[in-house]
Amino acid sequence: MFEIDINDYGYDCEGVGRRDDGKVCFVPYTIKGERVLAKEIEEEKSFVRCKCEEVKKKSDKRVKPLCPYFEVCGGCNLQHVCYDEELLIKKEVLSKQLCKAGYKGEIKVERSENEYFYRNKIKLFRAEKGLGLKKPASNEVVVIEDCVIAEKDLGRAIKGVQTFVRAQNLLGQLKEVTLKCQGDDVLVWFNFEKDVKVSFQGLQIMLGYGSGIFVSVGNDIPHKVLGAENLTFKENGIDAKMKVNSFRQVNTPVADKLYDLVLKNIKVGDVVNAYSGAGLLTGMIAKKNRCYGIEIGVAEHNDAERLKRENSLGKMFNFLGDVGRILPKVLSKNIKTVVLDPPRKGCDKRVCEILDNSVVERIIYISCDSATLTRDLQRLKNYKISSATLFDMFPKTSNMETLVVLDKITLKKLPIKKEK
Ligand SMILES: C[S@@+](CC[C@H](N)C(=O)[O-])C[C@H]1O[C@@H](n2cnc3c(N)ncnc32)[C@H](O)[C@@H]1O
Repeated sequence: MFEIDINDYGYDCEGVGRRDDGKVCFVPYTIKGERVLAKEIEEEKSFVRCKCEEVKKKSDKRVKPLCPYFEVCGGCNLQHVCYDEELLIKKEVLSKQLCKAGYKGEIKVERSENEYFYRNKIKLFRAEKGLGLKKPASNEVVVIEDCVIAEKDLGRAIKGVQTFVRAQNLLGQLKEVTLKCQGDDVLVWFNFEKDVKVSFQGLQIMLGYGSGIFVSVGNDIPHKVLGAENLTFKENGIDAKMKVNSFRQVNTPVADKLYDLVLKNIKVGDVVNAYSGAGLLTGMIAKKNRCYGIEIGVAEHNDAERLKRENSLGKMFNFLGDVGRILPKVLSKNIKTVVLDPPRKGCDKRVCEILDNSVVERIIYISCDSATLTRDLQRLKNYKISSATLFDMFPKTSNMETLVVLDKITLKKLPIKKEK
């Protein structure tokens, strides 16, 4: 144990200080300006992972966490700090990352309307005594009865599902349960280890008749056993229906702001929307521009095809497959903007190479992982970052959504020398 001053933040927004011997120490749940009593957990060659045993000098930005599971559950790691400071920490962490890609300009920050109760989706894992979330940096599950970052309707559904799985003795056979909501309509997907006979009628009564219940075994696709097939909603003038296993941004009001900024930055001409999910953004773009969506997930692709049909979007084209394989086929001189919204692992190296050698004028890169974003920005050598915006899609956690606009670097035309 040793006392240490916290004077920086690490990639996960954890406090960082230096021990007397000069070694860098990472101390989660601490704030810059604090002096803490730290306990060494694990010593690596160049740094030490620590646990904060006691805050000796408290920051005035420290607040009481709302959740009883905070620090035990790995779902959140920023409930100990007030919201304004949380945003400053995230901005600082992002700024350090973007600096590595040569960007020293302004980073705009879009707050979340809801600091708590914002998630429209949660995945719970089986433990011996109930369902829960994984502990920080561990596969061990902590049972939770409620979650303060889940939308309130989702919170009510979590309680109903917990009661149901305990009453039906399902914990032995379950792997995980995914819950998604739109208002008070909830879809619940039970993923079992093996085939199980269960009656879900009681659960559906508990959740309400707008809900839907799905079951899968192992890696199978979920099939509906009761109730609604999809979640139905309208976003930016698009009518959408989404399956339980289709991708949707988890914080709807922040996603709306994110989509608005994408639309504002689209150039005149055709667009490719790579990693397009269930087609919501492709549909919004296709209201004006011809837009080609590329998506590898079958459930998402089918949702996108239906969205195109039901919104009569003649300028929307959905391709099913890997971006690296399909992008070269759809790139043409008419494509002026490419929107990238890859999963956490970022784009394949090949995708960056294809784009870097293309004549696309603008790339709009949406990312939920600033490290892989930075790596990909470094690969796009022929593009310059014009703007960067942090969208706080995941308050109370160190995760963040970033939108970067990149423009093609064009060599200035040299004046033509007149022959004498
Ligand atoms: C972050 S989501 C983006 C969804 C969409 N832009 C939206 O806002 O709803 C990433 C999507 O990329 C898809 N994906 C992952 N790897 C892919 C690949 N190699 N090629 C095409 N799509 C991929 C995933 O299935 C997922 O739907």
